[in-house]
Amino acid sequence: MEKIVLPDIENFHELDVYKKHGGYEAIRKALAQTPDEVIDTVKKSGLRGRGGAAFSTGLKWSFMPKTTDKPKYLCVNGDESEPGSFKDRQIFEYNPHQLIEGILIAAYAIGSNNAYVYIRGEYHKWIRLLQKALDDAYAEGLVGEAMKKTYGTNFHVDIFIHKGAGAYICGEESALMESIEGKRGYPRVKPPFPAQNGLWGCPTTINNIETLTNVPAIINKGWEWFAAIGAERHPGTILYGVSGHVNKPGVYELPTGTLLTDIIYNYAGGVPGDKKIKCIIPGGSSMPPLRGDSIEGLRMDAESLKAAGSSIGTAGIMVMDEDTDLVKVLARITRFYYIESCGQCTPCREGTGWMKKILDRMVAGKARSSDIDLVVNVASNIDGNTICALGEAAAWPVMYMIERFRDEFEAVMDNTYVPPIKNKVHSMRQTKITVDRY
Ligand SMILES: Cc1cc2nc3c(=O)[nH]c(=O)nc-3n(C[C@H](O)[C@H](O)[C@H](O)COP(=O)(O)O)c2cc1C
Ligand code: SF4
Repeated sequence: MEKIVLPDIENFHELDVYKKHGGYEAIRKALAQTPDEVIDTVKKSGLRGRGGAAFSTGLKWSFMPKTTDKPKYLCVNGDESEPGSFKDRQIFEYNPHQLIEGILIAAYAIGSNNAYVYIRGEYHKWIRLLQKALDDAYAEGLVGEAMKKTYGTNFHVDIFIHKGAGAYICGEESALMESIEGKRGYPRVKPPFPAQNGLWGCPTTINNIETLTNVPAIINKGWEWFAAIGAERHPGTILYGVSGHVNKPGVYELPTGTLLTDIIYNYAGGVPGDKKIKCIIPGGSSMPPLRGDSIEGLRMDAESLKAAGSSIGTAGIMVMDEDTDLVKVLARITRFYYIESCGQCTPCREGTGWMKKILDRMVAGKARSSDIDLVVNVASNIDGNTICALGEAAAWPVMYMIERFRDEFEAVMDNTYVPPIKNKVHSMRQTKITVDRY
């Protein structure tokens, strides 16, 4: 299978090698077309965002105003702080020039002369590697003002790296823009959406690292080629990051729509000791967990996972074997979102704290039998009632883990009777699965 994002070519991260394999030809091709033609190609390719929401990339680009007296910006999201996600750093290390070329093409398509790559602050090594690639591209006149001469057009774009300071919330696109502006990373209320009112109040597009790395290949080989790979409504390849109880954890580039069992058993080497899988989170810790006995025949694409009651998210697959203590797992996940909540809105700020408190009580064996419904009630009251999707990211693991593994939670109760609270009834049919409200 041909790899698009992480090709098996030795030293592909080096500029000379990248150029030898046709690197920086796609931007030439793109510059020979109108920006609308480039957007149309990306739209028709079916490329969908790899940052979590799987939104159509070409459609997002088309939201940028054509006529405006304000500068336009491109933000490239490499914050990658979702537990279970570790794929964007592979691109910084093994294919930085294809990312840079993708940024150039996206900037041209939306009419931006300035792009900011926002990278998770702890990624020291990968920040250095991307900076080196960027310096090399600048030195050869492939980026910046010198582009005009190199490519013989009037277009140029400067690319800046902006380091985060370790806050998960700064991966949320509006918090990311606040952070670039030098402010605390508080998500903004939407609408207005970034294409209308983004960075410094100007039209802005935000895309994930992996999303943009696909773009040069689409321009070079055509939208039909890309659209024919993988799942029909969610085409291309995707970087599956497999972690947890597997023999060979790692990042595997495979077509969308690959069987989940194929990824686990044929690529990630199966489960140590041939144990059964109890639970799987298919797209990073914020996505609804699935039962291990429900994954037979399940394909890894946005539509299939939605139908199965979860979501593709960042395709970070977390595998838990039959001996895993799911009460502890959920307590750990909940602690993460409690710590990372920015505290701006009450349901998330207070709710994540309450959920953590109750789950810690369960882990300590001090929970009351009513605590199961109580924690689900708190989660249900966060879901859909917050400024940004961190609320859902915190609520979904609690709601769905308990719905799908209730017996595990009942087993740790001390059976003290406390009158039941009035609970909001919850079922998958009532819950709209979206990651970002775009
Ligand atoms: C709490 C939170 C954290 C997020 N973190 C990231 C991240 O680290 N990287 C990323 O690309 N998108 C992240 N997102 C999604 C972004 O808001 C945005 O949808 C994405 O960068 C858009 O790019 P795409 O359309 O190419 O997927 C996060 C969203 C939320 C709610
Ligand atoms: S949902 Fe949570 S993280 Fe998002 S704005 Fe509200 S408090 Fe902050």
